[in-house]
Amino acid sequence: MSEQSSLRAFDVKEATGDLANHHVDAEGLKRALRALGGGVSIITAGEGETRSGATVTSATALSIDPPRMIVTLNRSASTLPVVERYGHFCVNVAGPDHETLANQFAGRGGLKGAERYLGADWTRLVSGAPVLEDAAAAIDCEVEEVIERHSHAIVLGRVVGIRFGNRGSLVYRDGQYYALGG
Ligand SMILES: Cc1cc2nc3c(=O)[nH]c(=O)nc-3n(C[C@H](O)[C@H](O)[C@H](O)COP(=O)(O)O)c2cc1C
Repeated sequence: MSEQSSLRAFDVKEATGDLANHHVDAEGLKRALRALGGGVSIITAGEGETRSGATVTSATALSIDPPRMIVTLNRSASTLPVVERYGHFCVNVAGPDHETLANQFAGRGGLKGAERYLGADWTRLVSGAPVLEDAAAAIDCEVEEVIERHSHAIVLGRVVGIRFGNRGSLVYRDGQYYALGG
């Protein structure tokens, strides 16, 4: 390959139309993020009537060794103060048939706090946070640090318990749930 043709192979083309650089605003970012599929988890915290929880796609591992989880929660969401008060949370990885429960914990249908726990079975592991009995996996955490940034709080969790399910999981992409495996 001549020097000229190998250079051409790496030429950067000008993007046009819908592929052109989009003005950076909230709408543009939301639209770009719709392309990014995310695993659905239900974050749980609290006890009895003080429980609340949220459906998230933002839960993932910060590090494997040491075992640490990270989740970003809206500062205005009801779950953050419960997580801070109890110093715990559980990342309940949603299974393929948890779409209704995921909508419930997203506040769709108007259920609040402990009402979101209706219609599913719950147990506890180590931290005391509610654990979804038939979660694809449950990762029980004690809060290590809460970092408030902009609209959200970055919650770091020290993993203190793990429970396995033997099923598939639920993914959210472009406004729709997709069941994988199971
Ligand atoms: C698929 C999906 C993913 C979500 N991911 C997040 C997230 O990562 N962080 C977050 O703060 N809210 C997320 N939400 C929104 C929360 O579930 C919702 O705002 C919250 O449960 C309701 O807030 P409330 O408890 O104050 O009523 C997500 C919602 C859906 C449906």
